[in-house]
Amino acid sequence: MRVAILGCGVMGSAFARQLSLHGHQVILCDRNQEKTEALVKELECTFAREPKEAVAQAEFILLAIKPKDLKGLDLGTLDGHIVMSILVGTTAGELKRAFKGAFVIRSMPNLALRCGESVIALVEDADLSEEVVVKVEHLLKGLGLIFWTQEEKIDAITALAGSGPAFVIAVMEAMIESGIAMGLRADEAKELVLQTLLGAVALLKAEKGHPGAVRWQIAAPGGTTIAGMKAFEEQGVRAGIMHTILATFERTKEIG
Ligand SMILES: NC(=O)c1ccc[n+]([C@@H]2O[C@H](COP(=O)([O-])OP(=O)(O)OC[C@H]3O[C@@H](n4cnc5c(N)ncnc54)[C@H](OP(=O)(O)O)[C@@H]3O)[C@@H](O)[C@H]2O)c1
Repeated sequence: MRVAILGCGVMGSAFARQLSLHGHQVILCDRNQEKTEALVKELECTFAREPKEAVAQAEFILLAIKPKDLKGLDLGTLDGHIVMSILVGTTAGELKRAFKGAFVIRSMPNLALRCGESVIALVEDADLSEEVVVKVEHLLKGLGLIFWTQEEKIDAITALAGSGPAFVIAVMEAMIESGIAMGLRADEAKELVLQTLLGAVALLKAEKGHPGAVRWQIAAPGGTTIAGMKAFEEQGVRAGIMHTILATFERTKEIG
């Protein structure tokens, strides 16, 4: 498909690389033309000086600018284009008012799309025909989990999955640094933590019941893991993580 990517920062450039890799034709447009031209050269794709110029060449428009920049954006006349927005807090209603004549999809990806392992939440909308849904799913194939949802859940998904990788990485950093504190080299600790995380994910995917059931199989009576879990609870790690995600949720609602 021909996709115009408006805004080639962290997320726009990640989409550009992945969509190019999957054989889509991308047209890039960003206020920083020097940076965009470098990405165009790397991906051997098309450069557009202005959003209108990009849109005129595309069927699909990926909106990857900051919400504050939406006001000044002029895409000209849209006629059957598909506009997918990844903007935090910008509702489907606002997008429809801004992009008349287009099919509009509000979405929330996360940066793991850079590795084809994103969560991409998409807001269901009765205005989207089956044909449009098929096209969107075709475009996003290979980028991660496609998760259709209702708009009232998108702020929660933004906190949990949009920002989520940042929190998981902070926890991983703490684990790596614990390894260093115990005398492991940083590279050893990182390798061990990465595989431990992958293993934990695999275990939870295989476990149908409560996650705690897996933990109880790791924690032997009077053993090492349960001693660690006691410290985990005493330090309020679980509550700290919940506070973190709920604070993100509150901020997401504020932006909206
Ligand atoms: N980062 C994440 O992990 C993440 C995850 C999910 C969703 N999001 C959402 O994704 C969007 C982009 O985030 P980001 O982190 O990629 O931001 P970013 O790195 O700041 O990229 C946005 C880019 O868009 C450019 N831009 C702004 N207005 C423009 C216009 N009218 N025409 C062309 N280019 C324009 C900006 O240029 P200037 O630098 O000149 O302003 C900047 O290069 C945000 O709405 C955010 O809410 C981000």
